[in-house]
Amino acid sequence: MGWVRRAAPYIHAFGERTFVIGIGGEVLEGDAAKRLAHDCNLLAALEIRLVLVPGARPRIERELARQGLTPVYHRGLRVTDAPALECVKQAMGALRIDIEALFSQGLPNTPMAGSQVRVSSGNFITARPVGVYDGVDYQFTGTVRRIDVEALNAALDSSDIVLVMPHGHSPSGEVFNLCMEEVAEACASALKAEKLVYLCDAPGLVDERGTLVPEVTAEQAEVCLAGARGISEDLGLYLPYAIRAVKNGVHRAHLIDRDLDGGLLLEFFTPEGVGTVVTREPLARVREAVAEDLGAIVGLIQPLEEDGTLVRRGREVLERELDKFSVLEHDGVVAGCAALYAFGEEGTAELACVAVMPDYRRRGLGALILDHMERRARAAGLKALFVLTTRTEHWFLERGFELSDIKSLPRAKRDYYNLQRRSKVFRKTLS
Ligand SMILES: CC(C)(COP(=O)(O)OP(=O)(O)OC[C@H]1O[C@@H](n2cnc3c(N)ncnc32)[C@H](O)[C@@H]1OP(=O)(O)O)[C@@H](O)C(=O)NCCC(=O)NCCS
Repeated sequence: MGWVRRAAPYIHAFGERTFVIGIGGEVLEGDAAKRLAHDCNLLAALEIRLVLVPGARPRIERELARQGLTPVYHRGLRVTDAPALECVKQAMGALRIDIEALFSQGLPNTPMAGSQVRVSSGNFITARPVGVYDGVDYQFTGTVRRIDVEALNAALDSSDIVLVMPHGHSPSGEVFNLCMEEVAEACASALKAEKLVYLCDAPGLVDERGTLVPEVTAEQAEVCLAGARGISEDLGLYLPYAIRAVKNGVHRAHLIDRDLDGGLLLEFFTPEGVGTVVTREPLARVREAVAEDLGAIVGLIQPLEEDGTLVRRGREVLERELDKFSVLEHDGVVAGCAALYAFGEEGTAELACVAVMPDYRRRGLGALILDHMERRARAAGLKALFVLTTRTEHWFLERGFELSDIKSLPRAKRDYYNLQRRSKVFRKTLS
């Protein structure tokens, strides 16, 4: 129940927005294809405008093998000669038919029951040849020259799902084999899509500890790519296009584990997501609180007051002391807060009400708030921060605070120290 309720804001936000999903050929084999169809069916039912760009690599390989041909690659890109192009046409034609069949299922007792998803496709892409590199002629391997946005939008207006196969045509009528990741990016950029999604052979980007990195800016992603840090084979292919897309005005690019059942839904409809999202600007920012934030701050700290983590303040006190608060906004949601009570004469300030919403924890947002509060204190000419805590001592210790005692507190604070709470005092000198 909770899961569905928490999805409501996203459902409101995404209606009539365009999502482009690049699907590696591996995902379109077996049961994974069915599960993907179920999820896309649900997205379409929520009035999300869906463009699917399927990859055909495994099928092309099989077709080449059937014809006794050897696949040729140069710099990771297929070289498509005339016989290989025939295999590409066979593979893509069959793939399109299979995908249409996938979305035509509507058996009772399946997630497709009662659905009548219409899938359309068309000649939306003008292509040109890649040309010759290092003396190797790519022949019928092409690159996107233009996307017919008007036709694509018209198809989206009249269909539930638009299928864009990764091939294009030149004005002279030649056919070119294109790579899925480029076509998906070009469509998303041309449509100024809300989301471009790639289903990958990895959970997303990971850091040096192997932990998933839930969000990166395009700039940070470029650094990861240059250092080849946390980059699987698919990520190496998709990340450059994800970066290009957000630079071209696509709102978000997502890299999601292709093996995770329901990965698309979890990524789109939960605040924590399951993959890595690439954005142009950071998703999180800390700013000073304004009157409209009061409700969110109360919502954040009330449960913590009730379980005794924070000292009870009450709404009126919060309202009066709103100027002490900074809030952390994540993707438009107030997901954290902290307050700074300055003791100017002693050159110090109390850091209080540090809180991050449970769904948003363990992704560095608490550290972001702390960093902001330290800068705020420094800007006010203060030399040290102190905090009173009963349950979070290690979090502060790991961020440069040291155990101190009641005697070190500013006089006014000492007089009001609540002996019963037995809070420990931690202090950090601001450099
Ligand atoms: C403390 C709090 C603000 C941290 O927020 P956050 O966004 O998760 O912080 P970060 O992502 O920067 O740090 C997460 C790390 O801190 C650790 N951590 C979280 N709470 C901790 C605690 N009470 N004691 C020690 N470590 C803690 C996490 O385990 C994680 O480390 P790991 O990934 O190595 O395991 C958040 O857990 C919270 O709101 N807690 C309840 C309120 C509270 O205790 N506030 C302090 C009152 S003085």
